Amino acid sequence: MPKKTLRAVEALQEAQKIAFAPYVFQASISLRKLGILSYIFEHKNGASIQEIAKGTSVSEYGVGVLLEIAESSDIVFQNKENKYELTKIGYFLAFDKTVGVNINFNNDICYKGLYHLNDSILNGKAEGLKELGNWSTIYEGLSKLTPQQHKAWFNFDHHYSDYVFKDALKLVFKRNPKFIFDVGANTGKFAINCCEYNDEVCVKMLDLPGQLQIALANTNKNGYKDRIESFEIDWLSENPKIPTGADIIWMSQFLDCFSKDEIVKILSTCANSMNENTELFIMETFTDRQKFDNAKFILEATSLYFTTMANGNSKMYKASEFLELIDKAGLVLKEDINQIGENHTILICKKK
Ligand SMILES: C[S@@+](CC[C@H](N)C(=O)[O-])C[C@H]1O[C@@H](n2cnc3c(N)ncnc32)[C@H](O)[C@@H]1O
Repeated sequence: MPKKTLRAVEALQEAQKIAFAPYVFQASISLRKLGILSYIFEHKNGASIQEIAKGTSVSEYGVGVLLEIAESSDIVFQNKENKYELTKIGYFLAFDKTVGVNINFNNDICYKGLYHLNDSILNGKAEGLKELGNWSTIYEGLSKLTPQQHKAWFNFDHHYSDYVFKDALKLVFKRNPKFIFDVGANTGKFAINCCEYNDEVCVKMLDLPGQLQIALANTNKNGYKDRIESFEIDWLSENPKIPTGADIIWMSQFLDCFSKDEIVKILSTCANSMNENTELFIMETFTDRQKFDNAKFILEATSLYFTTMANGNSKMYKASEFLELIDKAGLVLKEDINQIGENHTILICKKK
């Protein structure tokens, strides 16, 4: 990205915005939660502080302080009648689905823990995780989050993979697989999607025991008890092993949960379970494959969630980094498909 030339006064203003960023963030949370942004949106000619206070049952003082910082942050503006209206930023903050998923995830999962980012960097450990629970990685705790945290984490997770499953399934089933391993199966959504797409395929979900309990409850509820089975694994254990027999090994948004050394260990373990026909599909959002700076920014910020909340040593990677790891693990890249949804790439690998 080219370096922007700012005047000193603008640069100072930007630096101050960073210094006070937590205030703008929490004010935005309140403006959403208290219904102030929605109230303003519903009043097309704008609304005064008094009207908003009455309409939302928030004090005039409360509405006033929130709207002052919101105006300075270009979330709202005052029209000629001195009534507040939403700017485009305010509209997206209130109603854009991706912004909503991100802001809830950052507030309910990451906000308190991010305070420990510096220690996480120094110690190589997710030092912020203690704000959620006493676990060594967040994955151990996923089945133990509070309902609000659970909703925020899973909405975030699903938002970035569900919409691409349709495109991905077409690619997977072009190969006519009979048996798929879904590594990092999470809630079982992809496994269920596979069984809905094809009447014969069987799926083995591989994940930690806590996740598999939830995933199996979902797959059984959907009527796939005979076609979807599970295999408990902790990839961080000493010498993880997986069964053989898959036509396709599927990993979606999974390897970003691990460090580079761990990824090589996981991929090598998979390579050992593959025969010459087995294909390994890796679906990821890579930072060097994004068309828009906005998407790259979200991914780079998400890396810090991994640093401070998830495990302390993983991140959203560049595709170029993955190509090296694939090679190190004894796999060879057969196809590199870059147009899955807007942001995803699928790397299809075989055994060397
Ligand atoms: C980010 S979620 C991906 C979920 C799903 N594949 C998707 O595309 O939405 C990562 C998954 O990896 C699993 N996982 C993380 N660490 C693990 C470990 N050490 N052993 C086994 N599974 C693990 C988590 O439980 C979770 O289900």
